[in-house]
Amino acid sequence: MKTRPVQIAIVAAAVACTAGYVGHVDTGAQQTSLPTFTDRNDRSIDPIGRNAERMIDAGRAIFRFDTFGDEAFWGGMLKLHTAIEGRRFGGVGPGLTPANALSLGLKVDVDALPASVLGAIRQRRIDLDDPAVTLALLDANAVVGVKARRAGRGLASVGIQCALCHSTVDNAVAPGIGHRLDGWPNRDLNVGAIIALAPDLSAFAELLGIDETTVRAVLNSWGPGRFDAELVLDGKAFRPDGKTAATLIPAAFGLAGVNLHTYTGWGSVPHWNAFVANLEMHGSGTFVDARLNDAARFPVAARAGFADVRNEPDLITSKLPALQFYQLAIPAPRPPRGSFDESGAARGKAVFNGAARCASCHVPPLYTEPGWNMHTPAEIGIDDFQSSRSPDQRYRTTPLAGLFTRHKGGFYHDGRFADLRQVVEHYNAVLNLNLTEQHKRDLVEFLKSL
Ligand code: HEC
Ligand code: HEC
Repeated sequence: MKTRPVQIAIVAAAVACTAGYVGHVDTGAQQTSLPTFTDRNDRSIDPIGRNAERMIDAGRAIFRFDTFGDEAFWGGMLKLHTAIEGRRFGGVGPGLTPANALSLGLKVDVDALPASVLGAIRQRRIDLDDPAVTLALLDANAVVGVKARRAGRGLASVGIQCALCHSTVDNAVAPGIGHRLDGWPNRDLNVGAIIALAPDLSAFAELLGIDETTVRAVLNSWGPGRFDAELVLDGKAFRPDGKTAATLIPAAFGLAGVNLHTYTGWGSVPHWNAFVANLEMHGSGTFVDARLNDAARFPVAARAGFADVRNEPDLITSKLPALQFYQLAIPAPRPPRGSFDESGAARGKAVFNGAARCASCHVPPLYTEPGWNMHTPAEIGIDDFQSSRSPDQRYRTTPLAGLFTRHKGGFYHDGRFADLRQVVEHYNAVLNLNLTEQHKRDLVEFLKSL
C-alpha cells in the first residue's frame, strides 16, 4: 500500500508523455518498473544523447577552429602575420609561399578549398612560390590550425588553434594536402621555425629573460614534430647533453579512460587544455595551478604569475567541457592492413602480456594503467631530465594504441628510440627480460598492430 503514490506518479508520467514512453506499472505492488524508452536510439526523446551530439559538434569546432583570442599574441605582439604576407602585401620579408608552408609541415584541408582552387592544385596550375596563394588558402580557412584575419590586400592578424599540432591530413590530393585527421600528431610541423619567422620575439625574450637572438636560436633548435611546453615554465631550452629540451607532439586520440595526460602526467585533459590555451597559445582566459608558484623549479612561471592567470574576457573556460568531450570521443586509428605481420602480432601479444611484462604497466585495452599511471625514471630505465620539469617528477605510461601514427620522430617523449625494435631492446636490457630474437620480432609486430 505504501508504494501507491509512487505508482500513481509513474502512471501519470507515462500517460502525459505520449511521445515514446511506455510506462509499465505492476499492480502486484511488489515491483514497479520505471518508464523505458521504446527506442533507445531515438535521439528525439533522449536528452543525454542529444547533449552528447551537441558537445561533439561544439568540441570539434573548438578543437579545429578556436583561437581563444590568441591573435592578440601571435599577431598583435609577435606580428607573425607580417612575415606570412610579406613585403608585397604590406608586411616584412619575402612572405610565406605555399611551398615554404608545406615544407614547414603546415597542412592544407582539402574539404575547405573552393572547387576552383582544388582544381588548380590537381592540375598543377597553382604557383606554389607565390605568397598570394598562401593568403588565398588562409582566406578559405584551409590551413590546418591557422586562422588569419584580412586587412585590405594583406593580413590584419593571425592566430593558432589546437589542430595546428594535434591534427594532420591524409595526403589524399598531394603531400600535405588532404582530409583532416583530428588527434593525429603533426610530426612534420616545425613549430619552432614557424614561430621564429615572427619579426618581433620580444614577448618571449622578456618572459625568458634572454635576448631575441637566443630566443630565435632556441626555436630553431626544436626541429619537426616537436614543441617545448615547459620552456615557458622553467626556461630550460637544452638537455644536459646539449640536445633540444622540446618533446615530440603526442597523440590526442585514444585518451578516454586514461587518467593523467602529457608525458609527465601534469593532470587531466581539461587541466592541460586550460594550461595550453592560456599559457602556450596565449589565448584570453583563466588558469589556476598553484604548483607553478615554485620559484626554484618553475622560475619563469613563478615570475610571470602563471599559477593564477585571469584574463578578461575569458574565452576559454566555457569551452573546456565540449573540448574535453570531443577529445575523449576521438578513437585511436587502426593500422592499415598489411602494415604488420598478423601471425607475428598474435604471438607478440602473448609476449607483451607474458614474458616481456609490458602489460603490467600498459594494461590492455587502455595500454596505460587504470588508476595512477605514473613511474619514476628508474622504473623505465631513463634519465630524469624531462620528469624533473613536472610537478610529480615522473613519467606517465603512454597509451600505445595508434602507435603507427607516431613513428616519425621516434619513440619516448624525446624520440630517443628511432624505432620499435630499439624500444624493445631498451626494455629487454633494463628489465632483464632475456627475450629471444623471435620474441623481440613478434613483440614489434604486435606493437605495430595496435
Ligand atoms: C604548438 C603545438 C601544440 C598546440 C597548439 C597544442 N598542443 Fe597539445 N600538446 C603539444 C605537446 C608538445 C604536448 C606534450 C606536452 C608534454 O608532455 O609536456 C601536448 C600534449 C597534449 C595533450 C596530452 C596528450 C596525452 O598524451 O595525454 C592533450 C590532451 C593536448 N595536448 C590537447 C591540446 C589541446 C586541446 C590544444 C588546444 C587548446 C592543444 N593541445 C594545443 C603540442 C601542442
Ligand atoms: C614500469 C612500467 C612500464 C613497463 C613495464 C613498460 N612500459 Fe612502456 N612506457 C612506460 C612509460 C612510463 C613510457 C613513457 C616513456 C617516455 O615517454 O619517456 C612508456 C613508453 C612506451 C613506448 C613509447 C610510446 C610512444 O608513443 O612514444 C612504447 C612503444 C612502449 N612503452 C612499449 C613497451 C613495451 C613493448 C614494454 C614491454 C617490453 C613496455 N613498454 C613496458 C612504462 C612502462
